[in-house]
Amino acid sequence: MAVVLVRRERADDVAAVRAVVSAAFARPDSGDRPPVEVGLLDELRVDEGWIPALSLVATEPPIGEVVGHVVCTRATVDGAPVLGLGPLAVRPDRQRRGVGTALMHAVVGAAEALEEPLVALLGDPAYYGRFGFGPASEYGIAAPDPGWGVYFQARPLGAGPVPAGAFSYAAPFHGL
Ligand SMILES: CC(C)(COP(=O)(O)OP(=O)(O)OC[C@H]1O[C@@H](n2cnc3c(N)ncnc32)[C@H](O)[C@@H]1OP(=O)(O)O)[C@@H](O)C(=O)NCCC(=O)NCCS
Repeated sequence: MAVVLVRRERADDVAAVRAVVSAAFARPDSGDRPPVEVGLLDELRVDEGWIPALSLVATEPPIGEVVGHVVCTRATVDGAPVLGLGPLAVRPDRQRRGVGTALMHAVVGAAEALEEPLVALLGDPAYYGRFGFGPASEYGIAAPDPGWGVYFQARPLGAGPVPAGAFSYAAPFHGL
């Protein structure tokens, strides 16, 4: 397992985070074009749904190099505020060493400390199930795209009742 420290992203981390996201989501057929997740993150940063306390980096001591990043942004369920998680990215040469796990536990804990009721995401249940996520439909939450099926997952947090209804991500996700 890698030793990493997870902390809030700072202004001087932005370029390093961009590089990590770019490398993590790189696809062999995309040529010089950056992955869509890079543009998504750029747009999220200037969106009203950006929550600075929930943009976290994983850094390696002693230098503090950024090797992973996760963010939750403002989303809604039937108009009620909840969180949407993503992108989550770990630099390819640091994957499968627990960095993603550290980021997930940190961001879910931070979200709970902020008294958020629920976080939802689109991802592989085989990965996110270990962090307490389950099919959002089991909580009465409808995915933006019904075709997402069990890949659209939710995790209720400690605070307040879990809202039910249609889930909507922050605006930059809508153009994907
Ligand atoms: C997904 C990702 C964030 C995981 O980070 P990581 O640091 O490699 O994960 P960890 O080391 O904490 O966990 C590794 C475990 O997750 C599993 N895992 C990793 N990626 C997975 C995936 N896409 N689906 C299912 N399981 C996955 C591994 O099999 C491993 O499980 P095991 O130890 O039981 O074999 C990282 O692989 C990544 O950046 N991938 C590219 C970007 C991406 O797909 N992001 C997620 C969608 S937003």
